[in-house]
Amino acid sequence: MIVSTKVLFEQAYKKYAVGAYNINNAEQVMALFRGNINSKAPFILQLSKGARSYTDKRLLEAMIRAADEIFPEAIFAVHLDHGDEENCYDCIDSGFYSSVMIDASGEEFEENIAITKRVVDRAHEKGVAVEAELGKLGGVEEHVSVSEADAKLTDPEQVEEFVKRTGCDSLACAIGTSHGAYKFSGSQGLHFEVIEKIAELLPGFPLVMHGSSSVPQDEVERINAAGGELKGAKGVDEDEIHKAGKMGVTKVNIDTDGRLVWCRVHREHFRDHPEVFDLRPAGKVFMGEYAKYIEHKNEVLGSAGRLEEVRAAVK
Ligand code: G3H
Ligand code: 13P
Ligand code: ZN
Repeated sequence: MIVSTKVLFEQAYKKYAVGAYNINNAEQVMALFRGNINSKAPFILQLSKGARSYTDKRLLEAMIRAADEIFPEAIFAVHLDHGDEENCYDCIDSGFYSSVMIDASGEEFEENIAITKRVVDRAHEKGVAVEAELGKLGGVEEHVSVSEADAKLTDPEQVEEFVKRTGCDSLACAIGTSHGAYKFSGSQGLHFEVIEKIAELLPGFPLVMHGSSSVPQDEVERINAAGGELKGAKGVDEDEIHKAGKMGVTKVNIDTDGRLVWCRVHREHFRDHPEVFDLRPAGKVFMGEYAKYIEHKNEVLGSAGRLEEVRAAVK
């Protein structure tokens, strides 16, 4: 059942965080649903601009509709990740999305507000929620690359005005993470003092953490042992993710970890079975492994076992 992010956030706020997982293909969709059903967790399925154009947005959306039928017990929201204005309007008008993210975080404060407000006005007319971003994460996404020098933590002084003037429904904050597999060079971690300050200024308002992959070191080692070259890859400590969830970080975005599972499974599979050229055996292993990853992550987030509570709230 596709639901609004609003109901998911109301249920979760300061109790647990909802996993928001990026999806690109059929194997990821199947494993994501299986993993969440197995751990009885509500979840957010998110599609980036790159994911929507990788095969075709209609194919991806049709797969999600099909998964909704295949797994009728699932409760989830469908979200556009890192949209520009054009992507947001496309998703809002489609009637399929629970929420969109307008990412104008690369703009100056006033311009970020103006763009976000335009999207909020149009989204709210159609009952679609909006995630906005204030501050600048470091790291690389398909369409944006922000160097560490340009990354900027969210300024708590700006959050109240930003939320008030834009009317956004949730806020992505830069709190020390970055996108991709190379988040920290040393022992850095989340800036809990920033989370605490923002949550204090915006009580009850759902905060979003991007760049939340934990980059499991055993995955990195296995990838490297099977021919990969991921030197110095490092992610967010899972204890820190759990703690952030109790402080108001209600949506936790994860993409890279899923890619690592995919990479490890396929590298090992073709290393160990050089005679194989069929795509399905490796795809099957991947679906099993990614579902297991989702189950584990939902335990970390605290969303595991919350499905029936949420079902009662949406009835
Ligand atoms: O934050 C970005 C997500 O990891 C999506 O990445 O734009 O390469 O699909 P993508
Ligand atoms: P990771 O690169 O840490 O998985 O972050 C994903 C993300 O923030 C998607 O918006
Ligand atoms: Zn992101």
